[in-house]
Amino acid sequence: MRVGQGGNGPGPLTPDGSAVELYENTRVHGEDELIDATIDPGSSILELGCGTGRVTRPLLARGHQVVAVDESPDMIARITETETICSTIGDLRLDRQFDLVLMMSFLINVADDAERLRLLQTCAHHVRPGGSVILQQQTPGMLRGPAVMVNEQRRMEISDVEELPGNLQAATLTYTVDGKSWSQRILTQNLSEDDLATQLAQVGLKRTDYLTPDLTWVRAQPV
Ligand SMILES: C[S@@+](CC[C@H](N)C(=O)[O-])C[C@H]1O[C@@H](n2cnc3c(N)ncnc32)[C@H](O)[C@@H]1O
Repeated sequence: MRVGQGGNGPGPLTPDGSAVELYENTRVHGEDELIDATIDPGSSILELGCGTGRVTRPLLARGHQVVAVDESPDMIARITETETICSTIGDLRLDRQFDLVLMMSFLINVADDAERLRLLQTCAHHVRPGGSVILQQQTPGMLRGPAVMVNEQRRMEISDVEELPGNLQAATLTYTVDGKSWSQRILTQNLSEDDLATQLAQVGLKRTDYLTPDLTWVRAQPV
């Protein structure tokens, strides 16, 4: 398990506490549509932290070519439709570049500056000149609790939220799907617009725009 993170519940768990069965049973929620609208038809995509392929499959169905990367062999074993690579994001160095490097799921909010730099270096290394990096980030207020969010697929409860020095937040997320429950303790760091711009610049990337009004989806390009 990663420092400050952990999880419990049925089936295998990843080092960040994500439950394989939970993601296997969660459908895409419009992410593919959002991403597809920003790229050319038939784009090459490197998806970092792909999980069980929840978003990979819809992107493939839309005609893109996706290379799916995750550090969890249990997660990527669920993806049979395209090339997968089992690697930590920070260590990945392919001899290929992509139209789009996609890193969703708030991985950019890892509570460790050195690790975040490694993640961004991997994004920068794999995006072609003129290509895009899309990040999904946490924004202030997202982790307010206690709170319960229910949609047609699952119930998610946010509890035990702690605001910690250095813009860090810890929280417990409890998911219930089809009578099964998983709990994940997360530790995240909110990034101000300036923080993110500075860290992107360190790896030769520049934020170009936000894809959503809530500022959670950020696009950057090589300078
Ligand atoms: C919350 S899950 C989300 C999966 C997928 N992006 C989705 O939205 O369905 C996060 C995934 O990122 C992977 N992950 C987290 N940190 C990683 C790292 N540093 N290197 C590789 N994979 C990582 C985990 O193993 C897990 O499968």
